Amino acid sequence: MSTFVKNAWYIAAWSSEVGRQLLTRTILGEQVVLYRREDGTPAALVDRCPHKLAPLSLGELKGDHVQCGYHGMTFDCSGVCVRVPGQQNIPPTARVRSFPLIEKYNAVWIWMGDPALADGGAIVEVPHYGDADWGLVDGQYLYFRSNYLNITDNLVDPAHTSYVHKKTIGNAAGEDVGVKVEQGDSHVLAYRWIHNAPPVPLVERMADFKGVVDRWQYYYLHLPSTSYVDFGSIDMGIEPTEANKDRGFRSFSFNFLTPETESTTHYFWLHLRNYHPHDAQVSEDVVRLMTLTFDEDAVLLAYVQREQERTGVREYTRLGIDNAPARIRKMVERLQAKETLSLPVHVLRVASDETQSSTS
Ligand code: FES
Ligand SMILES: [Fe+2]
Repeated sequence: MSTFVKNAWYIAAWSSEVGRQLLTRTILGEQVVLYRREDGTPAALVDRCPHKLAPLSLGELKGDHVQCGYHGMTFDCSGVCVRVPGQQNIPPTARVRSFPLIEKYNAVWIWMGDPALADGGAIVEVPHYGDADWGLVDGQYLYFRSNYLNITDNLVDPAHTSYVHKKTIGNAAGEDVGVKVEQGDSHVLAYRWIHNAPPVPLVERMADFKGVVDRWQYYYLHLPSTSYVDFGSIDMGIEPTEANKDRGFRSFSFNFLTPETESTTHYFWLHLRNYHPHDAQVSEDVVRLMTLTFDEDAVLLAYVQREQERTGVREYTRLGIDNAPARIRKMVERLQAKETLSLPVHVLRVASDETQSSTS
């Protein structure tokens, strides 16, 4: 059964990846071709010609149109066929699906669900984006060999940092500190303060703390799969409150998960910090250390995915730290159920016929 939520915005590509060449990418199990029109606006079509199913991305861009590389059928950016070589009439089935897109935060966002529900306001706000007092690293990408929900499990789980990320964002001081959980309509927050602790290696490298600190980890997960980590440290003696977080080292790490298939995920990330915002060396350190951190998750979660597929089991034992991940999974299931209910009747009928024939 699919774990995808279709009625949501996902990053399809960083803006710099989409140009006047045809870019193919699989998103939510569907192969999509992306390109820019001559006026610079992006376009996205299903990457499959309705004639013999050749990938359109193997064809050519002709102005704003895509010409199939097999027999030359040509489609405009809304997916309407405008030319069939060798004949005058254009068959009514000669069209491909197009997808709503928005360009924001240097990224091209795609809506894979019902276009009537595509609301640009639903893209998560990134605080301090474009603020000159904050250092920005963006355009980063990793490929995870894991279902996206294993990654969302990990991204609302601050407890794993003490074990998986000792070299960067974790240390032993957090091992026995509990995690609190709050839930909103479309997000879950797992958070904790770790008091009187040495700074973690990444903070030690970027900030100038002399001794122990109070540090915080606030892990937000906005449905279905945008993670936002508010992470930092303040000197001991400053009251550890929300308002005082800006008086220390503070960073926002955004991880935008775009499911590719049920077992693989595109992992786009960006990072904002309030320390040395214009220092290129610090930006390089962020890329190196955060890539190292996320790679540690990627390796672990690929093994988890492999064992889940081999055994058919997701987890044998539930712990207290699984509270936030379990909530996310339940909320995602609810979104999926709502999407199924809103599908047109003929689609439901086809789905049910397919289920019956595959079980008979
Ligand atoms: S497969 Fe595309 S025109 Fe024939
Ligand atoms: Fe991690």
